[in-house]
Amino acid sequence: MTQLKVGMIGAGSISDAHLDAYSKNKEVTLYAIFDYNRQRAEEKAAKYKISHVYSDLGEFLADPDVEAVSICTWNNSHADISIAALDAGKHVLCEKPLSQTLDQALKVEEAVHRSGKMLQVGFVRRYASNTEILRKFIDNGELGSIYYAKASYLRRLGNPGGWFADKERSGGGPLIDLGVHVIDLCWYLMGKPKVKSVSGNTYRKLGNRSNIQNLSFYKAADYDPSKNDVEDMANALIRFENGASLMVDASFTLHGNDETSVKLYGDKGGAEIEPAFAIITEKHNTILNIAPQVDNSSFDFEQSFQNEINHFVSSCLGRTETLSPVQDGVEIMKILSAIYESSEKGIEITFN
Ligand SMILES: NC(=O)c1ccc[n+]([C@@H]2O[C@H](COP(=O)([O-])OP(=O)(O)OC[C@H]3O[C@@H](n4cnc5c(N)ncnc54)[C@H](O)[C@@H]3O)[C@@H](O)[C@H]2O)c1
Repeated sequence: MTQLKVGMIGAGSISDAHLDAYSKNKEVTLYAIFDYNRQRAEEKAAKYKISHVYSDLGEFLADPDVEAVSICTWNNSHADISIAALDAGKHVLCEKPLSQTLDQALKVEEAVHRSGKMLQVGFVRRYASNTEILRKFIDNGELGSIYYAKASYLRRLGNPGGWFADKERSGGGPLIDLGVHVIDLCWYLMGKPKVKSVSGNTYRKLGNRSNIQNLSFYKAADYDPSKNDVEDMANALIRFENGASLMVDASFTLHGNDETSVKLYGDKGGAEIEPAFAIITEKHNTILNIAPQVDNSSFDFEQSFQNEINHFVSSCLGRTETLSPVQDGVEIMKILSAIYESSEKGIEITFN
């Protein structure tokens, strides 16, 4: 069986989702791992039987046996490491967001073209089984023309601290960390319309609330609550050239309940993909709520990562084109950057 030798860059919290999925893919050999934190890399190497541990990116990328890499580092290194890996002849799966700024994203896109290698952006929700099912309904015209989408990714308590809360390393707070997932999912299911304008607001009202007790939440591998200069919450209205619009909000904390919802409205039908998969339509003058009978009615984290990794491996082996190519990462960075810019300047940002 064809074998793809994979290297992992970054051995923190999310690397397990990648490593688990690679280890279950029979076409993959987990070959090398690199992290600033050598001990963490060694622990993961032992857990996943990875033969080569590196503490230097140059040496890691100079290893000709590494054919493809997953980048699971802080956001501030996504673009530079992607470019270096592509230029070293590796295929790349880069965790979301592709970069911190639009300029960086465009440089990654140039490197993809220059190198002839493939880059997949880790928009994992695109690979969820329910997303794939809904795509079939949409592609067959069941929702008609989708003119509005609405998405929320709200945590009442969930600033992961460490680098996530340090703008220099993250690029921002819940918008670039959580909002990115649902903005991308809506945009993808809406048929990737061209963005026309963006109006956004960000708020820093509650801090990271590290004082709260008795409620646990996702933490960075190097959790540190002492630094926090990112927004606690963001919202935006995104207009597209085809007249469709998307309303979104995301928070690390707010006085409310946790909420993840993704809803799409078309002129023939609607769909909700989170919190539970549902299709809404009209037949014979009657409104119907359709509840698809599927194994998991919500987002299946493990299966989605498995699908994402399997798809990446197939794309590296030349059997398919990636579903989340670099140009989509660029478009999403354009939207995210415009939301931050709009909030900062207090104006709507328009594109030609
Ligand atoms: N797709 C998802 O659902 C999902 C979920 C969580 C995190 N992520 C993304 O994954 C990335 C990592 O997040 P995490 O939660 O694992 O963070 P983490 O802090 O737990 O781990 C990051 C690791 O990367 C290492 N690192 C950072 N910069 C490095 C560099 N330049 N070179 C080598 N090692 C470096 C750190 O030492 C650390 O071990 C982020 O970009 C985040 O947005 C995606």
